Amino acid sequence: MEIDVFTLFPAAFGWFARQHHVVSALAHGHALGYVNYRDHTPLRAGQVDDTPFGGGAGMVLRVDVVEAALRARYGIDPVVLPERRRVLALAPSGQLLDESLVSELAAEPALTLLCGRYEGFDERIIEHFSSGCLSIGRYVLSGGELAAMVVVDAVLRKLPGALGDATSPVEESFSTALEGAPEYPHYTRPADHRGWRVPEVLLSGHHARIREWRLAQSRSRATGRPLP
Ligand code: ADE
Repeated sequence: MEIDVFTLFPAAFGWFARQHHVVSALAHGHALGYVNYRDHTPLRAGQVDDTPFGGGAGMVLRVDVVEAALRARYGIDPVVLPERRRVLALAPSGQLLDESLVSELAAEPALTLLCGRYEGFDERIIEHFSSGCLSIGRYVLSGGELAAMVVVDAVLRKLPGALGDATSPVEESFSTALEGAPEYPHYTRPADHRGWRVPEVLLSGHHARIREWRLAQSRSRATGRPLP
């Protein structure tokens, strides 16, 4: 899979790009690239945004700047881009990311993520250059970069090679193996810490009973665990 992230802050991805599963995914032939809108702006002094028509606070990412960046990267008029690859603008108003959408995105051959900043995008970017908007939750971040990392992280771990042979994402939270429920609790040594004992069944070596217990635990978490 080929993922391109369009951003004003490619340096924000430095730590993320060094993480083991990202490095492994890239070593297995997947690609993750960054395009800085500012490198392609046709405007003077690196301008990329402007004040909103009609007034209001903040700055809006300009449609001509995003068009120039997309053209530079793909060499085509970006209005046809969504026919060739999924182009997703990251915005709090978008479709909420969940595990089934992550699987859908992981099946794409190529993905383009557009990060907004400040007040977000000129709406014409979304209307004409994107396949739609994607949100990681109903709250407002200062920009799309953290959201893009969330999306790329969740997508990459679905791809062959990202987690290595020893680890499998088959039986993890929200997988069909767990009937779409969150994962069961895990324990490791020591088996007893301050009298907090690991459930006996996990020490029993009885695989069928362990599996049954884990499924029951998963099901009991199906609606999430509310904060007290
Ligand atoms: N940009 C700002 N807030 C966001 C959110 N909640 N999801 C995706 N992109 C965003």
